[in-house]
Amino acid sequence: MAILKLTERKKVHHAAELLLNSSNAIALTGAGISTESGIPDFRGEGGIWTRYKPEIYGNIKNFIRDPTKFWKLAEKVAPKLFSAEPNPGHYALAELEDMDIIKAVITQNIDELHQKAGSVIVYEVHGNINRFTCFGCRASYTKDQVMRKLKKEKHYPPLCDMCSAPLKPSVVLFGESLPTFEIYQSQALAEKTDVMLIAGSSLSVDPVADLPLYTLSNGGKLIIVNDAPTHLDERAEIVINHKTGKILPLIVEEIKRLQTIQNEEQDPSN
Ligand code: APR
Ligand code: ZN
Repeated sequence: MAILKLTERKKVHHAAELLLNSSNAIALTGAGISTESGIPDFRGEGGIWTRYKPEIYGNIKNFIRDPTKFWKLAEKVAPKLFSAEPNPGHYALAELEDMDIIKAVITQNIDELHQKAGSVIVYEVHGNINRFTCFGCRASYTKDQVMRKLKKEKHYPPLCDMCSAPLKPSVVLFGESLPTFEIYQSQALAEKTDVMLIAGSSLSVDPVADLPLYTLSNGGKLIIVNDAPTHLDERAEIVINHKTGKILPLIVEEIKRLQTIQNEEQDPSN
């Protein structure tokens, strides 16, 4: 196991045991799992909201009043979002789904890196940067259509071809409601799960920050992998303050080691 302190190695082992013996574990991820893919998070060191005021740049009321501010921020962040590739943290969660250890990923991220890494059951509770909607007539546009418009028209915000209203990426801004199916499904999964693996989230934005409480209230356990403390650390079974890109693959490796031991015990002739 890569160079980790003894305590962290023990925690990785305990997390692997919990997940291996779980019956319907799920993962909940935040922007922290994508920082090792080059996408800034929001509240971590150098995060987007430490440089731009969310109430101005990330709020739906201000978007309606003046969409250019949001689009100027999007112009800076979008290239990193569109060129990013999954990192070992994303691949580890995809492998845990393949191994039937986790049943779904609930993500606050809009970057589609879980899907690019191979995760299939992914609930994007804050939307997705690859779809755009017209604020006036609800017409929908793909990312490529909007990129072409921006290149040709050189106008921010891009305007709808049908009604000339400003276009908006299908991501949830502060003050907007979350996609109904995704959040209801996530609440149902959080209620039912016996182990929630939380990776790279400050757990500071409702209603997603409530999901771990659904798990705890039904006797489920939390494993938190985050490089900074969260307000739920003292209620978690395991907290590993380290990079998700390092810890999640180690948990997968440890699960495989435990499975080999289990198989040998069940069938020593193997
Ligand atoms: N490994 C582990 N933890 C990390 C890493 C990493 N490589 N990089 C950053 N972190 C931690 C940060 O220290 C921080 O605690 O991940 C956490 C990310 O928290 P936020 O930036 O608040 O992101 P998130 O929890 O996803 O925010 C939720 O807020 O603004 C809204 O819609 C936005 O979806 C976002 C929501
Ligand atoms: Zn329109």
